[in-house]
Amino acid sequence: MAINTTISLPGDKSISHRAVMLASIANGVSEITNLNDGKDVQSTIQALRACGASIDQNGEKVVITGTKLRNPDEPVDCGNSGTSARLLSGLLSSQRLQFSLTGDASLSARPMNRIIVPLTEMGCSIESNDGLLPLTIDASNPLNGINYKMPVASAQVKSSILLAGLGAESSSNVSELNSSRDHTEIMLQNMGATVLVNDNDIRVEPLSSPLTPIDLEIPSDPSSASFFIALAILSKDSRLTIRNMLLNPTRIGFMNVLEKINIQTNISNQHYIHGELCGDVEFISSPINSFEVPAYIIPSIIDEIPILAVLAAFGEGKTIFNRVEELQFKESNRLQAIIDNLKNFGINAYKEDNSLIVEGGHPTMATVQSFDDHRIAMAFIVLSIAAFGEYEIDNKECINISLPGFFNTIEVMLS
Ligand code: S3P
Repeated sequence: MAINTTISLPGDKSISHRAVMLASIANGVSEITNLNDGKDVQSTIQALRACGASIDQNGEKVVITGTKLRNPDEPVDCGNSGTSARLLSGLLSSQRLQFSLTGDASLSARPMNRIIVPLTEMGCSIESNDGLLPLTIDASNPLNGINYKMPVASAQVKSSILLAGLGAESSSNVSELNSSRDHTEIMLQNMGATVLVNDNDIRVEPLSSPLTPIDLEIPSDPSSASFFIALAILSKDSRLTIRNMLLNPTRIGFMNVLEKINIQTNISNQHYIHGELCGDVEFISSPINSFEVPAYIIPSIIDEIPILAVLAAFGEGKTIFNRVEELQFKESNRLQAIIDNLKNFGINAYKEDNSLIVEGGHPTMATVQSFDDHRIAMAFIVLSIAAFGEYEIDNKECINISLPGFFNTIEVMLS
């Protein structure tokens, strides 16, 4: 069925977490609209409230009155959200707090040493369950700045260090292997912090005065958009426009991949919202080619690999995603989850060294195995709808983590 629709989507999840966190320690009142409506951002809000933050969610608008945060009375539950756990570790440390962080079974299995090591070097005293949650962090002693070369490309780790650096006694430098999403840097600069970026080296100065508040309308989340874009691309003679989509280059690597596999995109109405590039983007369906995705762009498509693997399943030939080992440490082991689902749907997929290989073919009907992971669930529902017009799934609740309106939007597109 041909799709010809224009949609707007809830705000970008990464920017939503950061906006709520930074507004909570700013010097005044911030107003945020189009905040991401998923459960992950609610985990951040609840965690900050437990530390005394004043966050008023009133329909469309979220009003945050910056304040001095305090130690929470109980362990703070980060739910399923890696961004909450890792960024809050840094933010609450910058406020010299003592706190414990817990999470659900998935989050409790995800590696935390990647933040424990640098935060400990900065002077935090951290207890963990052998590198996993729960974490108990005592940041009450003065923190020192750090010079840190990141062993993994991770925006969460980078952000955790930058946020902790706001409360340190001297400047901190972080060097990345490949550039990862830079929303923390952009938002901090827009709120008055000194953050200097030189290619993959980022320096943050300790705050000499509190952050200034922001009024921000958060642009449509490109990671959420990617599922609808894929469905349109896989539907013959279709066009889909995403209105006011975030176009930050560290986030739209998937648009470069789409171009390589033969998909035409038209961008209009480009503008900046608080330093973040946004615009309207039209995607036009067409038969798909295979492509070899180079390792250096993986950080800019890290959350889109499940849906790009689904597109590859319909492509002509073999698609190779190089160096995707980080996928093993997401909400599920996404590398295995992608391979298992593709195989269930009759598509040949396998890993070779640290790469994922997908051979295009003709799917056969199967039940989607979500692994309780929102992005795996949505990616394979799209595969099933594109191929068969219907889907079966073991758990669709997990989609509420990032995109509670997923099914409504699919309905709008198909109506
Ligand atoms: C995020 C960073 C990425 C991404 C996650 C959100 C962020 O994680 O997968 O969904 O908001 O900083 P890593 O930093 O672990 O790659």
